[in-house]
Amino acid sequence: MNSVERFQERRFGMFVHWGAYAVAARNEWMRNREKTSDADYQRYVDHFDPDLYDPAAWAALGSEAGMRYGVLTAKHHDGYCLWPTDQTGYRSRRDLVGPFLKALRERGMGAGLYYSLIDWHHPQFPIDGLHPLRDDPPADPRDIAVYRSYLHAQVRELLTRYGTIDQLFLDFSYVGHVHEGQEVWGGKGAADWGSAELLAMIRTLQPGLLVNDRMDVPGDFVTPEQYQPSAPMTVDGKPVTWEACQTMNGSWGYDRENRDFKSVGLLVRMLIDTVAKDGNLLLNVGPNARGEIDPSSADRLRGIGRWMRLHQRSIHGCGPSSFTAPPDCRFTQRGDRLYLHLFAWPFDAVHLPGLADRLRYAQFLHDGSEIAHEIADPDRPAYATSSAGQERGTVTLLLPTQPPDVEVPVIEIFLAPS
Ligand code: GLC
Repeated sequence: MNSVERFQERRFGMFVHWGAYAVAARNEWMRNREKTSDADYQRYVDHFDPDLYDPAAWAALGSEAGMRYGVLTAKHHDGYCLWPTDQTGYRSRRDLVGPFLKALRERGMGAGLYYSLIDWHHPQFPIDGLHPLRDDPPADPRDIAVYRSYLHAQVRELLTRYGTIDQLFLDFSYVGHVHEGQEVWGGKGAADWGSAELLAMIRTLQPGLLVNDRMDVPGDFVTPEQYQPSAPMTVDGKPVTWEACQTMNGSWGYDRENRDFKSVGLLVRMLIDTVAKDGNLLLNVGPNARGEIDPSSADRLRGIGRWMRLHQRSIHGCGPSSFTAPPDCRFTQRGDRLYLHLFAWPFDAVHLPGLADRLRYAQFLHDGSEIAHEIADPDRPAYATSSAGQERGTVTLLLPTQPPDVEVPVIEIFLAPS
């Protein structure tokens, strides 16, 4: 299995946004929104003391939810580092990256890191339209070349100190980028980051690693964020490896007052929809300043886990199907197993065009109980209690009136060879 196959086989991962902004507890962009000075932000840095940090507990929650990899923000836009980097003193008192990666590996999960290309703390990072000091830029000259070497040195540390890293999420480039309706001045991209050299270094240090597409040169996978692609993703008309990153409540970093949580049912449907379109889902948690995943997020992970315990066979190792799913349904497929996910419960029957010769056996996935099927004579007219025949080649699954008590019912179809 190559790296892309391994990545796609995992399908579901845990994104962790965590840093000093968890102390402010109002989203990881608060410095940008509030134009916070370094001096004012310092109190969050000083009070970031995650005494309850227990990465094994995070990994356990993730793994129980059916997540097969994790990605932690080693540094976010605020520039604060979670590992003992030699490049700056702007870092946590102890290493928070190593224990996280270890906890993932102990659960057999893939190990990933996020690193922000943007840095609102580095003194040589030129002020731009996203920078907290944009309205009142300091007069000191700033040299991006100095920052560029810092960034390369930090990525080198992350890729040489912690063993095999499966994926790297670099975030982000913004030349000509529009933010809140306005083009951002001073946007930065490949020339600023030295992306070609950076990519070459990454390839040399970790040949099996997958890197995302946000450094302004093509990477190994694309990263739709906070929206659900309507079809398998393509670049220049060709299918690409993709991973949607999604929040539970609209915020990446811990956001105390934000109660806008997606339901377990919605999150499960998003996961299914993603796999049905050949994507991965990287679902975020933003642990709090003491290092805990808040109860609302943890409950949702457990809810997803309740579904995944019975249905992971329709997710892990699965991808899109060449069959077209009926209305309100999604298909995923792995070899001769076709999985029909019913987003809405139909009355008594679901018709599957094109599957009459292929369906060998069907069962509910959650309890392994048989689902009966019939092929209705295409020439049969509808009369009184008998329904009309279906289009030739259609097989009809006969369903109970009551759906099973699971977030999304799944029917596992065993296919005969074509
Ligand atoms: C972004 C944001 C951010 C978040 C990320 C996740 O572009 O700036 O805060 O870390 O995407 O994909």
